[in-house]
Amino acid sequence: ICSSFFSLLKRCTWLPIILLLLDITPMLPVLEGVVMELQDCSLPLLRDIVPTDKEEVAFKDLDVAILVGSMPRKEGMERKDLLKANVNIFKSQGAALDKYAKKTVKVLVVGNPANTNCLITAKSAPSIPKENFSCLTRLDHNRARSQVAIRCGVPATQVTNVIIWGNHSSTQYPDVHHCKVNMSGSELACFDAVKDDAWLKGDFIATVQQRGAAVIKARKLSSAMSAAKAICDHMRDIWVGTPEGEFTSMGIYSTGNAYAVPEDLIYSFPVQIKDKTWKIVEGLAINDFSRSKMDATAAELMEERDTAVAFLGV
Ligand SMILES: NC(=O)c1ccc[n+]([C@@H]2O[C@H](COP(=O)([O-])OP(=O)(O)OC[C@H]3O[C@@H](n4cnc5c(N)ncnc54)[C@H](O)[C@@H]3O)[C@@H](O)[C@H]2O)c1
Ligand SMILES: *[C@@H]1O[C@H](CO)[C@@H](O)[C@H](O)[C@H]1NC(C)=O
Ligand SMILES: *[C@@H]1O[C@H](CO)[C@@H](O)[C@H](O)[C@H]1NC(C)=O
Ligand SMILES: *[C@@H]1O[C@H](CO)[C@@H](O)[C@H](O)[C@H]1NC(C)=O
Repeated sequence: ICSSFFSLLKRCTWLPIILLLLDITPMLPVLEGVVMELQDCSLPLLRDIVPTDKEEVAFKDLDVAILVGSMPRKEGMERKDLLKANVNIFKSQGAALDKYAKKTVKVLVVGNPANTNCLITAKSAPSIPKENFSCLTRLDHNRARSQVAIRCGVPATQVTNVIIWGNHSSTQYPDVHHCKVNMSGSELACFDAVKDDAWLKGDFIATVQQRGAAVIKARKLSSAMSAAKAICDHMRDIWVGTPEGEFTSMGIYSTGNAYAVPEDLIYSFPVQIKDKTWKIVEGLAINDFSRSKMDATAAELMEERDTAVAFLGV
């Protein structure tokens, strides 16, 4: 992901930046290669690059943190052991953010399990507002948008307001009940544009939910270019805001006050962003079909949270 992200930097930044690159010690020689490639891009806005294996260097005075490095699942590893390893990583990085970063830092967690890792990071950085932590579901959002666009034969920009609810996993709920498609000069509700309810309630949802696995199966590697593009989209929207009348999806801290999603979860919601502050889009009608899917993904996250938080204490 990181290499693809850097190649997109020219597109997604509009301010001069200094990159602080953290990796584990055995990867430092590899990181040197990444630094060489970054230099060779002669990026107009890149002012400095600092490779390091020390959190106190990497997190010092940060404006933006993109946490991509998590423990990958290894052959024969138990789910619980994997979660525990990730709790340790994000507990440590959260504490380092708390200690060294600016209090206004925007933290985006990408490494999986992204929602729960984000929650652990936020809990480990109590002096930074919870609203400043988010996890990436923009890739799922972009996938949903493109699936509808391809089906309708329009560019993806003509499809707006898809929603991803819940966990960044196969239980996520890609919801098109509020989505609009601009076709032949008029704006149609997604169901009217697609004219195939069975597809929208069946294969469309499954395709978006299973897309990560499908990419791995085909490429023998996980999504990298599209994940990097989604990171750019996510951070750019935080910085400059979402377009008027449009919303996007991101995993954010649930206080229990929106859409009956339980509190103390990082859950993906539809949001609008202005002045570097997001607001959950309010008042969207939720039918029974949507409700049951939103609840299923919340239940999964609660179970994972409880296990992870128990590890936090030890
Ligand atoms: N949320 C999303 O939409 C989304 C999309 C794609 C991938 N992902 C996840 O993003 C993560 C990264 O994917 P990738 O393809 O870039 O993997 P990768 O293995 O290519 O890169 C991960 C990097 O993180 C480093 N790392 C590991 N532990 C670290 C630690 N404790 N501190 C600092 N660095 C550490 C590794 O050494 C490696 O260089 C994975 O967990 C993947 O599942 C999430
Ligand atoms: C939530 O999604 C992440 C990322 O796909 C996954 O690793 C995790 O297992 C999911 N949580 C549960 C409880 O299934
Ligand atoms: C819809 O498409 C037409 C051209 O087909 C364009 O003029 C108009 O601006 C589009 N509307 C939106 C909301 O994108
Ligand atoms: C982050 O916290 C600051 C206060 O430190 C606040 O002004 C800002 O709106 C928060 N950002 C987001 C994205 O909510």
